[in-house]
Amino acid sequence: MSSNKPQPSHQTVQAELRPGQSIELLKALHILTREGRLNQDSRRKLKQVEHLVQFIEKVLGELSPHGDELTLADHGAGKSYLGFILYDLLLKDAGRGTVYGIETRAELVERSRALATRLGFARMHFLNIAAADAAHDAALPERIDVVTALHACDTATDDAIAFGLAKQAQAMVLVPCCQAELAACLRQNKALQLSRTPLAELWRHPLHTRELGSQLTNVLRCLYLESQGYSVTVTELVGWEHSLKNELIIARHTGHKKRSAAERLHALLAQFGLQSLAATRYARALSPSVVS
Ligand SMILES: C[S@@+](CC[C@H](N)C(=O)[O-])C[C@H]1O[C@@H](n2cnc3c(N)ncnc32)[C@H](O)[C@@H]1O
Repeated sequence: MSSNKPQPSHQTVQAELRPGQSIELLKALHILTREGRLNQDSRRKLKQVEHLVQFIEKVLGELSPHGDELTLADHGAGKSYLGFILYDLLLKDAGRGTVYGIETRAELVERSRALATRLGFARMHFLNIAAADAAHDAALPERIDVVTALHACDTATDDAIAFGLAKQAQAMVLVPCCQAELAACLRQNKALQLSRTPLAELWRHPLHTRELGSQLTNVLRCLYLESQGYSVTVTELVGWEHSLKNELIIARHTGHKKRSAAERLHALLAQFGLQSLAATRYARALSPSVVS
């Protein structure tokens, strides 16, 4: 059925783009159609990514006020919308800044490599590896300044955090995806917890198990980052009408490791019957070097 709705003109689309933004890139990413138009889905995606780029721009400005070299690693890069748009808007003309995209799907990595070559984005590199293996991959530098993860599936966000800690990242910008690992632990211990505490009502119904699992995961991630010397802010990425997975966690390295955060993290794990995660997900919070 054909729609009678008027299509936005090319000029209208231009007004939605940032000055100097590459039309060729947006077409190659299928954000713009071949005719240079935006459909509803791609407009939503563009808005989301550009919003995140604005947050990252602020972080880069703080880290490198004089335009020094910076390295960024994007975990669960997918088609690398974030990496490409960030490079196009912030790094391409600045002549500095290297982006590493980390992605498990080989075909997406190949596609991104080909696109970067075609556009001459020489300081973009793509690695076909899992986030959990990235910290030990010889193709990555010893230190990475900024770690990003936009909707990296399930525990890939935790792996990105572990990577950031191993690489002594100055900042981490994370928009978590759906979360299954912690919800599975809550589910497993449900009967026991219901007999022990009325708090278990918070996750008795399966939908609540999933929702609380996501919320608790992000709370624990924040505490973990604070325990490892980061200040953390949590905010919305864009309005809820644009995405349900909308929580933005920005962690900036201060070097002040908060013992109280590590203690609270462990108290929460105990309260919710999740102690099994302490050694796997939050291993560094066990370290005696956590002070103050
Ligand atoms: C929901 S997509 C998001 C892609 C992209 N960041 C975006 O927002 O458009 C998640 C991507 O993470 C990748 N992925 C999932 N687990 C991963 C892991 N452990 N390490 C690296 N990539 C992973 C998937 O293959 C997928 O491309």
